[in-house]
Amino acid sequence: MTKEFEGKVAIVTGGGSGIGRATAVQLASLGAAVVIADVHADTANDAVAAIRGAGGHGVAVVGDLSDAAIVDNVVTTTIREFSAIDVLVCNAGIMDDMTAPHEVSDAVWERLIRVNLTAPFMLTRAVVPHMLERGHGSIVYTASEAGLRGSAAGTAYTVSKHGVIGLTKSAAVMYRGHGIRVNAVAPGGVATHLEVSIKSDATGPASVGNYQANVGRVASADEIAAAIVFLASDAASNLSGAILPVDNGWSAI
Ligand SMILES: NC(=O)c1ccc[n+]([C@@H]2O[C@H](COP(=O)([O-])OP(=O)(O)OC[C@H]3O[C@@H](n4cnc5c(N)ncnc54)[C@H](O)[C@@H]3O)[C@@H](O)[C@H]2O)c1
Repeated sequence: MTKEFEGKVAIVTGGGSGIGRATAVQLASLGAAVVIADVHADTANDAVAAIRGAGGHGVAVVGDLSDAAIVDNVVTTTIREFSAIDVLVCNAGIMDDMTAPHEVSDAVWERLIRVNLTAPFMLTRAVVPHMLERGHGSIVYTASEAGLRGSAAGTAYTVSKHGVIGLTKSAAVMYRGHGIRVNAVAPGGVATHLEVSIKSDATGPASVGNYQANVGRVASADEIAAAIVFLASDAASNLSGAILPVDNGWSAI
């Protein structure tokens, strides 16, 4: 039986850890050749080894995606290794200090916007011409509950994820009729390194204690990855511009 992503090529950013790693492994198990782009060489290489160990195809590209040269390297490596790009998962991201506007330093602001928003934009800009050439492609962004409202993180992170949702909707409209679908997931709390990095004394509205009181449990990375894989797949062929909350009902409260 043919696997769902057999013959397809996917780029997954932040694929060395958490949601990105789970997504890369799931896509590879469904037949995709996966390029893992991550700033950490050890975890990126480990994820590729896991994919290859299970009989899949994977390659790591290591570097900071806020650097345009690294973005170019991801795309040229993917084309050189696998000749095409069918799926782009822009997932790499970092958390802020859970602070309000008057407490946000220039350094935190600039880093958050650069990594969480500018990098996905640059990657989209670099990948889309390859998708347009072949008349098809699927892009999925990892946004956040913090992209939907103001009470899920600090200001810098919240603004960056609102931007990701704007990018999703704009790109979905721009590429309608060109065979490229663009969607996003908006996870709530997920058990990953990023979630652990939230300081236990964070005063922000989404401090872990508050979150768990409201939602009951954090999600596994695999649960978010399953939603990303669905949006990337042909099963979602009529979905574009959708922002899918994956939060056990948190956004419905
Ligand atoms: N964990 C949560 O509770 C949660 C909730 C909502 C949204 N998200 C989003 O999910 C995405 C994935 O995060 P995660 O929870 O799996 O965290 P994680 O820290 O486990 O994984 C993030 C990955 O991104 C990589 N990365 C970070 N900055 C990078 C850069 N500049 N260049 C290249 N790679 C970089 C890291 O090395 C890491 O492998 C992020 O966009 C995050 O904002 C997470």
